[in-house]
Amino acid sequence: MTLDRPAPTRPPAVPATRLAAEGLTLRYDDRTVAEDLSVAVPDDRFTVILGPNACGKSTLLRALAGLLAPAQGRVLLDGAPLLSLSAKERARRLALLPQTMSAPEGITVQELVQRGRFAHQRVLRRHSESDRRAVADALEETQVADLANRRIDELSGGQRQRVWIAMTLAQDTPLVLLDEPTTFLDLPHQIEVLNVLHRLVARGRTVVAVLHDLNLAARYADHVVALRDGAVVATGSPRDTITAPLMREVFALDATVLPDPLTGAPMVVPADTRSGVPVS
Ligand SMILES: Nc1ncnc2c1ncn2[C@@H]1O[C@H](COP(=O)(O)OP(=O)(O)OP(=O)(O)O)[C@@H](O)[C@H]1O
Ligand SMILES: [Mg+2]
Repeated sequence: MTLDRPAPTRPPAVPATRLAAEGLTLRYDDRTVAEDLSVAVPDDRFTVILGPNACGKSTLLRALAGLLAPAQGRVLLDGAPLLSLSAKERARRLALLPQTMSAPEGITVQELVQRGRFAHQRVLRRHSESDRRAVADALEETQVADLANRRIDELSGGQRQRVWIAMTLAQDTPLVLLDEPTTFLDLPHQIEVLNVLHRLVARGRTVVAVLHDLNLAARYADHVVALRDGAVVATGSPRDTITAPLMREVFALDATVLPDPLTGAPMVVPADTRSGVPVS
């Protein structure tokens, strides 16, 4: 006698990369920023995009978030072309904090952070309990809860930056992309924001951030994508990518790379060029 057994059930194949760009050509009108650019964002990791000014970091992030349609190639999110998903569906899975933001005049911190919830809200049921909790958690995480009733236009640059990060976190998406989230922050607040992002990753989110501080990037990144002139020059761990030869190749920077005495991560010490000649 043979028994009809159900086919063995296998766990669903979990893609190691929910978000990937394949062969992108990115351009603004007749200015081509990148050609044949491919990037895979590893899941549940902190990816840092590095590269000199104007190399295309923000352009790539915009394409990864579906805000810039590639002239060629495609971005895949969970295996589907990103641009085939509705804006709301994209916004439930992926949040982007752009490099520069401007808030509507007169809006308060609380109101702005609430806007991060738009993709979760239904027409008739605004501000559910989960909305309230996500907003409160985001305000708390970014240490701006005490500013909740202040107007955005009355805040300092660093306070404002943390409020934008709060809005992005309130969106509560598995993928979080941030373009220079630490730029206006003093060092303790930079570290605090990076710790927030590190905790998100520890809880199973995928984070991609553009950073300019190489030493903080080396400490926090699990994965680095180094860009130059719209092309990926290197990808891998900080140890494999933040090296003296790559700093020269990517940034044209003469530097010595030493182990960070606290963590062992690479630490970039620029050559002393005050006299015009590098002294290393
Ligand atoms: N909206 C736009 N229209 C036309 N050209 C643009 C636009 N945005 C960016 N560019 C150009 O595209 C190139 C890449 O810009 P991008 O903003 O991606 O650089 P970036 O690597 O983010 O630089 P930064 O470190 O200064 O933020 C630059 O030459 C820039 O002048
Ligand atoms: Mg930029």
